[in-house]
Amino acid sequence: MNNIIEVNNLRKTYGEVVAVDEVSFNVKEGEIFGLLGPNGAGKTTTVECLQGLRQSFTGDVRVLGLNPHDEAQDIRRQIGSQLQESALPDRIKVWEALDLFASLTPNGLDWEALLEQWGLTEKRSASFSSLSGGQRQRLFIALALVNDPKIVFLDEMTQGLDPAARHVAWDLIRAIRDKGKTVVMVTHFMDEAETLCDRLAIVDHGTIIATDTPQGLINTYASKINVLFSTDQSDISYLEQITEVEKVTKHGSRVEVKGTGAVLAVVAHSLVEHGITPSDLRVEQPSLEDVFLNLTSGAPKTKVTA
Ligand SMILES: Nc1ncnc2c1ncn2[C@@H]1O[C@H](COP(=O)(O)OP(=O)(O)O)[C@@H](O)[C@H]1O
Ligand SMILES: [Mg+2]
Repeated sequence: MNNIIEVNNLRKTYGEVVAVDEVSFNVKEGEIFGLLGPNGAGKTTTVECLQGLRQSFTGDVRVLGLNPHDEAQDIRRQIGSQLQESALPDRIKVWEALDLFASLTPNGLDWEALLEQWGLTEKRSASFSSLSGGQRQRLFIALALVNDPKIVFLDEMTQGLDPAARHVAWDLIRAIRDKGKTVVMVTHFMDEAETLCDRLAIVDHGTIIATDTPQGLINTYASKINVLFSTDQSDISYLEQITEVEKVTKHGSRVEVKGTGAVLAVVAHSLVEHGITPSDLRVEQPSLEDVFLNLTSGAPKTKVTA
């Protein structure tokens, strides 16, 4: 796949604050690429530099082969960006917003089709203020797609949504990708990054500390699997002889076996061989959250130039 975005040594300061410090990454055409990190990590600044919304940064940035410093207009014609709620007046009607946005772009799509695609046909004459959270979100997506963009930027799109609405939003984001768009999303939710992103960069204190697929990151930085069960058998030291097992901890009848690879299968097999068939055997797979905790110190810090 081609790189649709190439970022080399991007650096952006606000006065003495280094918001983005020598960041490099590529985004491939057709993927959902995520920037994951805590508040203040520099995610928004990064995507705004790419969209030509922030100037006076250094480094080499190409979006669709264009330079955001002097070709920002060309870039903006070919990208879609999710709006913040405050960007639309309460009284504007759904169709008026779409019509307005379509009129502002030379390659405006037939927005009637977008109404249909994003389930807004019945709401075409409803005012923005009367829409539910989910309907607003679908409208923002339809507006971001009205210029038939090649890349869609989504910044904290699920912020403030309840769990059911978040899952709906995830389906919408996948649907954008499935229509052939490249999606660049910013989030501080690890579960969201893990389920949605084809690849992601973990950002902390203005720098990227790792880039890979979610599973690749987990394999590299959080490969430990926990197998948990109960037994009254006092001697289970035979488990420690298993290659895949790293550590066995026993508290009363509760046993925790930490290991890697096929640890679950080999431990289960060994237990059965030793006459134990635990009914509460369960496994905890490592997640992106473990990766994040392993890679970062946690508390956000502000970087200041010397
Ligand atoms: N317009 C601005 N002026 C001054 N400092 C800013 C501005 N925008 C962001 N910052 C600072 O830059 C850092 C990165 O912010 P931001 O890119 O918004 O992070 P994120 O999106 O990851 O939360 C933070 O320390 C923030 O306070
Ligand atoms: Mg932000």
